[in-house]
Amino acid sequence: FAQTQPGVLYIEAWPQMRAGDEVELTGALGNGFPTGQLRGRVALVAGGIGIAPLWYAARALAAQGCEVRLYCGFRDEPYTLEKFERVCAGVAVATDSGRFGTKGFVTDLFRPEGYSAVLTCGPEPMMEKTARACLAAGVPVYVSRESRMACGIGACLGCTCHTAGGPKSTCKDGPVFRGEDLYGV
Ligand code: FES
Repeated sequence: FAQTQPGVLYIEAWPQMRAGDEVELTGALGNGFPTGQLRGRVALVAGGIGIAPLWYAARALAAQGCEVRLYCGFRDEPYTLEKFERVCAGVAVATDSGRFGTKGFVTDLFRPEGYSAVLTCGPEPMMEKTARACLAAGVPVYVSRESRMACGIGACLGCTCHTAGGPKSTCKDGPVFRGEDLYGV
């Protein structure tokens, strides 16, 4: 989503929609990646559909002069990479099938050394491995959690996760958390 002018929401993810179609939205909810605070070389580590929330971050980071590199893993055929290739200094792909990029996991490709920050979104085991590698290397890492959500406003407690500061709602306090808050140091 992008707000192009007050009262107008541009929905890039739904190209089948037509002018005049109606949608009902609740938001904005929760937080986002702290892109405005980041500088230098930034790595994005994505797994599957976790690549989606990293697109806005990639575009924003590139626009403010960051060197952005994407590491992404898919089961088989990658998607949306052409968009990232327009703004990223490098795109590395791993696939389970081995038909595209390197056969294996994206966490086999990614090393945090040399980055000023890392943003990640995807399956929980992938994010945990990525975050732990970053924490071990002393690189700040921001994790966008995926969770089933019902209310979206912190009322139903259905998306609670455990953090260093106690239980938090993924929808209201996240979905982006610092790596050390989720996985310790
Ligand atoms: Fe209800 Fe998060 S979805 S508390």
